[in-house]
Amino acid sequence: MTARVLITGAGSGIGLAVARRVVVRGMRAILWDISAPALEAARAELGDSVETRQVDVSDAHAVTEAAASLEGVTHLVNNAGILGHRMDWDDLDPAEVARVLAINVTGFMQVAACFIAARSPHPAASMVNMASIAGENGGAPGFASYGASKGAIMALTRAMARDFAPEVRVNALSPGIIDTPIQDAVMTDAAARARAAEGIPMQRMGSSDEVAEAAEWLLFDASYTTGEIIRIAGGRR
Ligand SMILES: NC(=O)c1ccc[n+]([C@@H]2O[C@H](COP(=O)([O-])OP(=O)(O)OC[C@H]3O[C@@H](n4cnc5c(N)ncnc54)[C@H](O)[C@@H]3O)[C@@H](O)[C@H]2O)c1
Repeated sequence: MTARVLITGAGSGIGLAVARRVVVRGMRAILWDISAPALEAARAELGDSVETRQVDVSDAHAVTEAAASLEGVTHLVNNAGILGHRMDWDDLDPAEVARVLAINVTGFMQVAACFIAARSPHPAASMVNMASIAGENGGAPGFASYGASKGAIMALTRAMARDFAPEVRVNALSPGIIDTPIQDAVMTDAAARARAAEGIPMQRMGSSDEVAEAAEWLLFDASYTTGEIIRIAGGRR
């Protein structure tokens, strides 16, 4: 049975790498992203196997509207996320905390709910959520709201796995430092990248495709795995 896979944040990095693997498997992918140019590039690369739609996952109205075209969806990669601005505790900006949580947590929950409401049954029906090791270790200094949002995704993964079983398996990936544009804010030069690599047992950043490889397994093959959070972090914690 052909799968139809919704991927949020699919215009770049890890989401795009998952889309590539879905297409190689001969399945259809629905790509949502806030960036129209990124979606255009993805569409040019991946062709007719993908549908694209510009959606800001933190905009409840936009998500509801976009969800109307999700009929027949079978899998979800709930991946869109932002790091937010660097903030010290003596300079806490509640509006920025709210923005990070609106995208990484509230939007994430609404997309999951829309997926469950629209989905068609599939023998391998499943959801993969993009957490982060920041959800365990608190994240880089100055990025506590990001760490909090990823800790929430871990808790939500366990809640969803319980609530959506046995029809839908729900798992999360917890990447370490992966070489994608999201790192540009913290890895400003080659020296910063080299320092980051030193703290990783594998001595290098991971690639988007190394995360996508695990996502593909969880989505389609891990038939007795649900409620799990798997680190893809080169041994880093
Ligand atoms: N790269 C890493 O080191 C790393 C580590 C752990 C977790 N993650 C998580 O992986 C996920 C993907 O990140 P990435 O590294 O591929 O980064 P990325 O910046 O390359 O991709 C994120 C994508 O999400 C999109 N996006 C941002 N805000 C959005 C919104 N409001 N609505 C819809 N789309 C939106 C962006 O346009 C972008 O295309 C994120 O949830 C991130 O937190 C990344």
